[in-house]
Amino acid sequence: MKHRVLTGIKPTGKIHLGNYVGAVKPALKLAESEEYQASYFIADYHGMTKVQDAEEMRNLSRGIAAAWLALGLDPEKVTFYRQSDVPEIFELTWILSCVTPKGLLNRAHAYKAMTDGNQQAGQDIDHGVNMGIYTYPVLMASDILLFQADKVPVGKDQLQHIEIARDIAGYFNKQYGETFKLPEHFIQEQSAIVPGLDGRKMSKSYNNTIPLFEEPAKLKKLINRIKTDSSLPTEPKDPDQSVIFALYREFASPEEVNMMKERFMEGISWGEAKAELFQAINGTMAGPREKYLELIESPEKMDAILARGARKARETTSPFLAEIKKKVGIL
Ligand code: TRP
Repeated sequence: MKHRVLTGIKPTGKIHLGNYVGAVKPALKLAESEEYQASYFIADYHGMTKVQDAEEMRNLSRGIAAAWLALGLDPEKVTFYRQSDVPEIFELTWILSCVTPKGLLNRAHAYKAMTDGNQQAGQDIDHGVNMGIYTYPVLMASDILLFQADKVPVGKDQLQHIEIARDIAGYFNKQYGETFKLPEHFIQEQSAIVPGLDGRKMSKSYNNTIPLFEEPAKLKKLINRIKTDSSLPTEPKDPDQSVIFALYREFASPEEVNMMKERFMEGISWGEAKAELFQAINGTMAGPREKYLELIESPEKMDAILARGARKARETTSPFLAEIKKKVGIL
């Protein structure tokens, strides 16, 4: 039997280069492999812990769906759905909540960071914390366990959530008998971290991202904003220390990358290096960008694809949830 691979994408921002290189590209590659059956979904209810404006939620959610499809996700091969279209996930979330010790969630990083911050500021520790943030890891465990996922591709920041999902599976299995598979995380080591405009990890929270489907003029502007050192145009530069090179290698062919490496070592001006990077990204993204814009313009097409994905997902989640309900004595 094929291994099951599953991952969720939170619609809290526009897809940027970091998401693409660190998550989307490797996930699409996995989905192509004959070894895996992939389920990828828009984690819209997770997004709601942060995005609380209806219009923004709708747009971000569609933007993420369009991005995956434009970048080559084949909905015939991958089960591609919106989390909110699979109600079994939410029923299971409650069931799992009842076997999850509260202390486990007190220690979850995102919640802990907020309470620590509040404590330092001399405020009530739960100031600004909604229950969605607090129970976020249980919903995520439900996403994963309901699909019997073997492997979960995630960024390093999500490792604790996978551990929590394993713990919760263990608690349930102990109480009600072997039911859930323990999922494993799956991290793409080399490309896990893409530098942003300021050299730190590209992340929406650092406000240093380059959106993937930016129009050419804006893309060029953003690339020109990438921080560089003050070395002279003719001075040799270390490619391994350069944000520009790190990004370039993700969009150029191996031959081009080798050539660029040489140019760095011989001395290339930052302006020229940025122009080459722009060409590489713009060239690779021209096709997907067109497709992306087309999909954004016709959301009904996308909605139909996602609805089909949810139906396919429910063919397995529905009987599995029934089995679980029997185990706990609800059915
Ligand atoms: N929490 C993940 C993130 O912020 C998104 C997510 C939600 C997820 N449910 C998931 C990832 C299930 C993997 C599996 O990136």
